[in-house]
Amino acid sequence: MTKKLLNIVVFSGAGMSAESGIPTFRDSNGLWENYSIHEVATPQAWKHDPDLVTKFYNQRRKNILESIPNEAHLEISRFESINPITVITQNIDDLHERSGSTRVLHLHGNIMQSKSSGPDTEKAYYDINSWELKSTDKCPDGYRLRPHVVWFGEEVYELSNAAKIIKEADILIVIGTSLQVYPASGLIHETNPDCKRYIIDPKCEEMIVPSDFVKVNSSASAGIKTVLENIKKVLTKG
Ligand code: APR
Repeated sequence: MTKKLLNIVVFSGAGMSAESGIPTFRDSNGLWENYSIHEVATPQAWKHDPDLVTKFYNQRRKNILESIPNEAHLEISRFESINPITVITQNIDDLHERSGSTRVLHLHGNIMQSKSSGPDTEKAYYDINSWELKSTDKCPDGYRLRPHVVWFGEEVYELSNAAKIIKEADILIVIGTSLQVYPASGLIHETNPDCKRYIIDPKCEEMIVPSDFVKVNSSASAGIKTVLENIKKVLTKG
């Protein structure tokens, strides 16, 4: 008898990579402490000082390249041998991919890629093969290359793809996101009524989510282990 596979979706945020040493945005040692969002993560910031923005993301890329996937990333990728998992991440790091996950959708871009800073009609992304994007790096249309990161005030192109994936989920696992940034946070409401929903976060007790969410008050690595063990039991029983 062939086993029935479930449609499992993980929706991750900065807390997913916290145990890899990448700071989250809104915790006290958060990334934005030394920079205001407006200085580095808006189209206006790029227009005003592209060198500062490039330098800021170069430093982040360097930190990410020096980091490795943690147990939470690895638990998710290993589970693919039992049942596929689609990851929708708000993170711009590539730790899900480096851990071996094969289905990863980046909602807010991917810091390891660049794109044209010109009118965004081309939708072409170029791999950055080191930590450094240089001010002289240009794309074929002649515009300077900027990081492939969705800045505040920019359109989230992958939103409708993400919503489609979430609508089809049997199980949604939300992990390490404060759910404070729209429109991404609205995705948790796109599930169908039968979807089983979990939220894993050390601050989940303070978070306002629909009452059917199973709250797992724990770090990403411990929480995902518990949740996936439970799902595995269901899968092997069925
Ligand atoms: N394990 C799990 N969760 C953790 C851990 C951990 N070890 N450490 C912290 N967290 C939780 C925090 O409690 C918080 O709820 O991770 C969450 C991180 O929230 P944010 O810093 O707001 O990050 P995120 O929700 O991903 O931000 C969304 O905002 O700044 C923009 O575009 C950026 O993608 C980002 C978006």
